Amino acid sequence: MAKNKMIFFCKECGYEASKWMGQCPACKQWDTFVQEPVVKKSPAGLNGLKAAEPELLSRVAAVEDQRILTGIQELDRVLGGGIVIGSLVLVGGDPGIGKSTLLLQMCRELSARQKKVLYISGEESLKQIKMRAERLGTFQGELFLLSETNLDDIEDTMRKLMPEIVIIDSIQTMYKEEIGAAPGSVSQVRETTGILMHIAKGLGISIFIVGHVTKEGVVAGPKVLEHMVDTVLYFEGESKATYRILRAVKNRFGSTNEIGVFEMRDKGLAEVSNPSEFMLQGKPEGEPGSVVAASIEGTRPILVEVQALICQTNFNMPRRTAAGTDYNRVNLLMAVLEKRLGIQMSGMDAYINVAGGMKVNEPALDLAIVMAILSSFKNRALDSKTICFGEIGLTGEVRAVNMAEQRVMEAGKMGFNVVFLPQINKENINHSNIKLIGVRNIREIINLFS
Ligand code: TYD
Ligand code: MG
Repeated sequence: MAKNKMIFFCKECGYEASKWMGQCPACKQWDTFVQEPVVKKSPAGLNGLKAAEPELLSRVAAVEDQRILTGIQELDRVLGGGIVIGSLVLVGGDPGIGKSTLLLQMCRELSARQKKVLYISGEESLKQIKMRAERLGTFQGELFLLSETNLDDIEDTMRKLMPEIVIIDSIQTMYKEEIGAAPGSVSQVRETTGILMHIAKGLGISIFIVGHVTKEGVVAGPKVLEHMVDTVLYFEGESKATYRILRAVKNRFGSTNEIGVFEMRDKGLAEVSNPSEFMLQGKPEGEPGSVVAASIEGTRPILVEVQALICQTNFNMPRRTAAGTDYNRVNLLMAVLEKRLGIQMSGMDAYINVAGGMKVNEPALDLAIVMAILSSFKNRALDSKTICFGEIGLTGEVRAVNMAEQRVMEAGKMGFNVVFLPQINKENINHSNIKLIGVRNIREIINLFS
């Protein structure tokens, strides 16, 4: 057999190059290139699938995708209304964030609903999975476990057992013998995913693939296969905080705006149906620098607390940090404050934090960031029953944002009674229990803190 040609791959994004490079031109990460053999594309693994014939568009049956409900509402919503039959879903996330737990809980619900489920783990022994399952509660119905990493054997098992849903935990442990590279390498991860895709489509099995996000590890990250799968979900959260957010970043069968919120308890993940309440837990009352903002995640309004700490700097260059929001945006807003309101920000350290560890990157948070900065700078607290939202432009104007009414409603639901919002949005909203204060320019709010 001819020796396989070696080429270089970026293990973050899968970019290919003929020579080693320090920085990947595609994803701009440093030191991510690894040398691996080129995989010749062969139809191996596709046995049993006929070559496809072209079909007239008008003849293609337009049936709605059939979906299987998982029984976990937060998950169903993120998937776009349940699992599409024959779809390939990637669940990515940091190690230890709860991917295996979430999927095992999903298996539990599915098997209790008379679905035939196969959970394949390449990381844990059957005994370890059983121990985890015992923490999660009672299991019933047909849930098969398999501890295996050889994809050929996995394929055989799937063809024999014909389950409806299969979990592969994790793709970085799986390998196909013909490919002369280690499990977790870019070529293995890519090829095995390609084969799983064919199995999913060919046999009509819905397959969930777990992919660990790597920091500086030796395995290929899930970015390598994002473009190959139907749906990409990321499970994120602070490892120290207990809540977790499941976010769809790609979905061929639904919107990518949806998020699901969970809390990690000692008996597994619990759904959080009221995330605002969860995010505002422990919010200080009457403290300067703390402002509540109404943000939108997908189609859901979520109230978050924005905190700012502004103090005299001890460095030549002031320190600025932004946790949970965009660092550049914070710098821009501080420049606007300096230029438009004449507030001296250049000698000030600024620490901005979205409490609770949530990441909010929408411009509607601008007004809250500015208010929190002003509140900390002037050492004056805002009334604790007040929230705000609005985008801020470079001249200090407060611009309209989308879904303003939902934001106001959420504020009302959570017991807030004053809302600062863009004047243009205010004109279209009626809410009898809440005092709406329209703002045109940030100049109008400076008096609140004097
Ligand atoms: P796990 O699902 O193994 O993470 P991943 O598959 O993403 O690597 O989650 C492991 C963490 O979750 C571990 O630190 C223990 C914690 N955990 C709980 O807090 N409660 C539970 O009921 C379970 C099963 C795990
Ligand atoms: Mg795991």
